[in-house]
Amino acid sequence: MFETCEKIWINAQLASFDPTHAPAYGLLPRHALGIKHGLIQCMAPMPMFEKEHSNLNSTEIVDTQGALITPGLIDCHTHLIHAGNRAQEFEQRLLGASYEQIAQQGGGILSTVYATRKACFEQLVELAIPRLKALMAEGVTTIEIKSGYGLDLDSELNMLRAARELAKRFPVRISTTLLGAHALPPEYKNRADAYIDWVCKALIPAAVAEKLSDAVDVFCEHIAFSPAQTERVLQAAQAYGLGIHVHAEQLSNQHASALAARYQAWSADHLEWLDEEGVHAMAESGTVATLLPAAFYFLRETKLPPIELLRRYQVPMAVATDFNPGTAPLASLRLAMSMACTLFRLTPEEALLGVTRHAAQALGLQDQNGQLREGFAADFIVWDIQHPAELAYQVGINPIKQRVFAGAISHA
Ligand code: NIG
Ligand code: FE
Repeated sequence: MFETCEKIWINAQLASFDPTHAPAYGLLPRHALGIKHGLIQCMAPMPMFEKEHSNLNSTEIVDTQGALITPGLIDCHTHLIHAGNRAQEFEQRLLGASYEQIAQQGGGILSTVYATRKACFEQLVELAIPRLKALMAEGVTTIEIKSGYGLDLDSELNMLRAARELAKRFPVRISTTLLGAHALPPEYKNRADAYIDWVCKALIPAAVAEKLSDAVDVFCEHIAFSPAQTERVLQAAQAYGLGIHVHAEQLSNQHASALAARYQAWSADHLEWLDEEGVHAMAESGTVATLLPAAFYFLRETKLPPIELLRRYQVPMAVATDFNPGTAPLASLRLAMSMACTLFRLTPEEALLGVTRHAAQALGLQDQNGQLREGFAADFIVWDIQHPAELAYQVGINPIKQRVFAGAISHA
């Protein structure tokens, strides 16, 4: 097994997050991990590896000297591609305006739409690079990126093309999501149903024709789209075989999570107003609950997502940054993990599962990412820490020793 590996990391503590390994974090002490063709080829305890060691002289060996290895981190909900920023809106909110009021007055998402429509493809890519580098530098190897600030054909497709471009230029996996139903564009004022029609009949087919989106998302909310409108978009997504995410129960309970579950959504996201019926529906369909504590923090929300219910029904919880210019100007998945613990009271193990195995599931990548496991992608991080809980506990220190993407060592 090890003799055919291209490279082997030895004397490592593996936080595998493989559910078949019983201890917390799927911890495997003193292990060797070998890779080939961008995949994890074998993992074994050191004594077993040492028995074979004599005939491995041509393989490259990295002695981690007891370092901890986790899967590469996965940020499964971002709006990384956009132009402009909304610092003034942040200021307005601190002076008393609410997120809903600003949106109803034509600001909020729409102000980012105006800025994004003006930007060309190359500008969208350039603006995203520092955000991407910040995430990569702290151990992120897979990122989901949504459209939703274009809201017309060219601008939406351009956002998705820019997202795909990042994966060509940087060692990172990008999962793309078409969020055409994010807000009503000004051209469709008072004609939301006509806009939804266009999203289903023109926008989704165009994105599919260019293979630009892996999934579809809808903002189901009283300031955005109704459950009936959301359902039409989910039907179209399903007809094209795309994955489904829903921005659900962020500001009110629209029963959008139960709706998402009826369409076997990969994830329902935000969930502060989620009720037990919704939790039950998500458990039945295997829909991941993606928690976005940064949006909760920046909007100074007080209503907490129902973590205890999610635990009781064993709904997998993911944690993401929601990086966006309005509700979550945060390019740190590590800080989002810390917020998930301190604000939502996740345990460090739950927070880490939320950026590894469960985040992979939220992107439909559960068979290839998010765990250290033979046959899975060789995306992993070698950390200079003793215990995985440190990753959720400490903020502002970056203990990365090595970032490995598809088997290749890469520093952001
Ligand atoms: O995930 N909730 C809707 N969408 C984003 C915010 C978008 C914005 O304000 O620009 C979110 O919070
Ligand atoms: Fe979002």
